[in-house]
Amino acid sequence: MKVYSTISALQEYVSKLKLEGKSIGFVPTMGALHYGHISLVNSAITQCDITIVSIFVNPTQFNNQEDLLNYPRTLESDIELLSTIDCDIIFAPSVQEMYPEKSVSIQLDLGNLAEVMEGKFRPGHFDGVVNVVSRLFEIVKPDKAFFGLKDFQQVSVIRFMTNFLKLPIEIIACPTLREQSGIAMSSRNMRLSESEKEDSLIIFNSLCFAKKLASNQTPDEVKANVIDYFKNGKLALEYFEIVNPITLEALSSQWVPNATACIVAFCGEVRLIDNMNLKIQD
Ligand code: PAF
Repeated sequence: MKVYSTISALQEYVSKLKLEGKSIGFVPTMGALHYGHISLVNSAITQCDITIVSIFVNPTQFNNQEDLLNYPRTLESDIELLSTIDCDIIFAPSVQEMYPEKSVSIQLDLGNLAEVMEGKFRPGHFDGVVNVVSRLFEIVKPDKAFFGLKDFQQVSVIRFMTNFLKLPIEIIACPTLREQSGIAMSSRNMRLSESEKEDSLIIFNSLCFAKKLASNQTPDEVKANVIDYFKNGKLALEYFEIVNPITLEALSSQWVPNATACIVAFCGEVRLIDNMNLKIQD
């Protein structure tokens, strides 16, 4: 496994592999890797000849400086973990390498996709995500890129960006991995104590409750009942929305196939995100 920190060295090696006709699978991450990430890497390994993982805590997607400072950084153990599976290349650039002086950022009109939920509560977040992912795509030039569905809205934004910029990259969305208890695997879980992890189960339980109610209630009714249910726990709810999975518009009286419940809550200072498909359509 090779580890690169500069764009030029990575590109030199990748262009040789491309000349040999190898397909490139790419998993962009911010490190602090867990088994959710490993399942993305394994999907890339299965589907592509070469797997590249980037590890870069992207400052431009944090609207809160505390959150950026507290984001876990575990590069050494991440490298160790990736060396135990068939990952070929790690790209771990510095902030300076990714954002040299005079670098130009792209401005995309993401419309409703960036105005609701994460876009509403984390202004500028998706501008940062679009900028870093488009830069990484430009550097790595993958055939396929793998993203976790835990960040449901992010996947919609990345798909939009890829189509809009006409990039020849297939976006593969992979299911959320959960702990045995049900809580979604997340790098942020590293900041939770055991009792906080138990408190955080209310997120998964609320989604399961929503799914149960969805069989005989309207989206509005489900939303009201889940918000009420959430008050029984210790976490602070930031939002709970039931959305059309394509447009991300909030549903009120009518269901659509694959209607998805999206939730964010704070356990102390730690912001946790999750979602669940309430109306699975085969
Ligand atoms: O999902 C993440 O970890 C980040 O948003 C990503 C896609 C690596 C961009 O920084």
